[in-house]
Amino acid sequence: MLREVAATRYVTPLRSGGSVPGVVEADDLGTYVVKFTGSAQGRKALVAEVIVGELARALGLRFPELVLVHFDPELAAHEPHQEVRDLLNASPGVNLGMDYLPGARDFTPQVAKTFPVDPLEAGRIVWLDALTVNVDRTVHSSNLMVWPTLGVAPPRLWLIDHGAALVFHHRWDTSVPEKAYDFRHHALGHYAPDVRAADTELAPKVTRELLDEVLAEVPDAWLTDEPGFATPGEARAAYADYLAARVAASEAWLPTDFPSREELAAEEALRAARTQEGRPKWLKRVPDLHGKPPAEQDWSIHLG
Ligand SMILES: Nc1ncnc2c1ncn2[C@@H]1O[C@H](COP(=O)(O)OP(=O)(O)OP(=O)(O)O)[C@@H](O)[C@H]1O
Ligand SMILES: [Mg+2]
Repeated sequence: MLREVAATRYVTPLRSGGSVPGVVEADDLGTYVVKFTGSAQGRKALVAEVIVGELARALGLRFPELVLVHFDPELAAHEPHQEVRDLLNASPGVNLGMDYLPGARDFTPQVAKTFPVDPLEAGRIVWLDALTVNVDRTVHSSNLMVWPTLGVAPPRLWLIDHGAALVFHHRWDTSVPEKAYDFRHHALGHYAPDVRAADTELAPKVTRELLDEVLAEVPDAWLTDEPGFATPGEARAAYADYLAARVAASEAWLPTDFPSREELAAEEALRAARTQEGRPKWLKRVPDLHGKPPAEQDWSIHLG
């Protein structure tokens, strides 16, 4: 079972996250990144976080501890921004916390240039993402962190943010477990991920027992009133059935033939050139934001 803690202090919103998670201190003296039930992404994002995160942990991938956080919106009465207060006021009760990794860095393309990743590890992560249809681990938004960074131990990759995985739970009636996975822009695509080795190693571990154990971690409250399912138990069985069928059909979705870093860069350059071509003359000097390049240092070039 996920541990339960009570929030004692709302420290700050994390505005870099689309769902505006918050850094929260709790009564076990821990610090957590909390995803709130009242966010626009809704409860399904939290369900995906628990299922995929706990599956990752069970398969031996690095993933920070998840806890259930009892949260009283009164704690953030001092929060100056109305939209953040609205989110917190809509989230009393149990929310989802992830252990805060102090000093962790986002795994950006800049970091990736010098950070070594073993093809076997890359393969395991891509395999998990393909199994759970995670559409949010791209070069632009890796949802990977590097930690620790203070020199106490070698820095390693940690998985975070699986809220956009399990896309099939948004359309149960039309999703087939054999569906191919779009891996072209995967954050680890150019590390030569060995997905075949990962399939051989990990597929036998994703048993029905493991899936049932992982599903048991999802609070009932996040699975009730789910259209098409009479009880939380029925919803859990549907997730476990789907993932069991998908793991058995890995030949149909196993990604191979990853584009190289150069191919991706060429594709990106082509896209940028097309955009540039379509612009009127006076717009041609606007910085191109394809691929989120680092902020421009020298603005004088725009002054003519
Ligand atoms: N456990 C953690 N420890 C340290 N920093 C974290 C942790 N989890 C998240 N962060 C930081 O907060 C940012 C936003 O988190 P996350 O991606 O989980 O939020 P989100 O709302 O789901 O974001 P989005 O949907 O925009 O990707 C991360 O990019 C990272 O910088
Ligand atoms: Mg994210």
